Amino acid sequence: MSAAPLYILGIDTSCDDTGVGIAQLGAGGVQVRANRIWTQAVHAQYGGVMPELASREHVERIDAVMADALEEAGLKVSDIGAVAATAGPGLVGALLVGLMYGKGLAQALDVPFFAAHHLEGHIFAAASEENLQAPYLALVVSGGHTHLFDVPEEGRYVLVGATRDDAAGEAFDKIARLAGLGYPGGPAIAEAALRGNPDAVPFKEPLQGQKAFEFSFSGLKTAALLAHKAGAAPEDLAASFQKAAVHVLVKTTRRAAETYGRRTVVVSGGVAANTALREAFAATDLHVVFPGKGLNTDNGAMIALAGAAALRAGRPPSPLAAGATAYAPLANG
Ligand code: KG4
Ligand code: ZN
Repeated sequence: MSAAPLYILGIDTSCDDTGVGIAQLGAGGVQVRANRIWTQAVHAQYGGVMPELASREHVERIDAVMADALEEAGLKVSDIGAVAATAGPGLVGALLVGLMYGKGLAQALDVPFFAAHHLEGHIFAAASEENLQAPYLALVVSGGHTHLFDVPEEGRYVLVGATRDDAAGEAFDKIARLAGLGYPGGPAIAEAALRGNPDAVPFKEPLQGQKAFEFSFSGLKTAALLAHKAGAAPEDLAASFQKAAVHVLVKTTRRAAETYGRRTVVVSGGVAANTALREAFAATDLHVVFPGKGLNTDNGAMIALAGAAALRAGRPPSPLAAGATAYAPLANG
């Protein structure tokens, strides 16, 4: 007789998306049963995320998003066997909403609670595709992060390299704005690039010849500004920038994989949705694992998957006193 599956509810309210997801952990491994996201439109008029408004909207929406997630999974709240919520990094007021909600829910249901790390969530989003087993490298490329970790064993994260300036997604967003391509910049650049010439604007490879595994995107941003002023077409700018960004992300990650002796690489975060990046990684000799559809950008299912991984690894639940932290490095080894 096989044991009944365990349902883990995951919550992410680290920024401007209210995300609730449900993962199922059973004999057949782990799978995503629901992933609901409420993207806050209120910030658009300000051109950036307003923290206080984000917190308030999380408070207003979280009940409905959770109800939607339960409905999508065909479950009742009493079926939930564990709860995980992002505790950091992120906007403290926004984080607190999901964290307190998760703790209250876990206490009411009398089930274990896990305070999750946002970046660990991004990495475990790839567990939707296959059973992640250390050792592997993890490249997290989002609007706020460009971090490359070595994961020599379950739960240990060694920082291999990070960006010196802008995050990869931030560079996509800024160059899209400069070229008048709209927001969010990643999908806008990717779409415009389909119509542009990737060799039209020559971008110099950032940090060329470095022995370390760092990233830098501010030089590409300046070069894009100069090309834009010189009259480069937005499509050509998009295609050329995307080619340069993809090249440096893949090249540095490959070099790190060789140095650290890893063959499996997880690529996650919003920029991992980029088709050109996916194709370039797929053309390498690495075994590359990307999150499934809808799991690249911020969401609750990735936090449920991180909770499932914590349960599987036998990690003890978090104390209900666990607080929210704006700055929380993942590296611990
Ligand atoms: O992971 P995420 O939702 O939020 C953070 O934690 O930052 O990532 C958002 C970032 C934005 O900068 C967005 O422009 C970028 O991911 N992004 C993309 C694509 N889709 C989203 N970048 C490149 N290509 C895409 N298709
Ligand atoms: Zn994120």
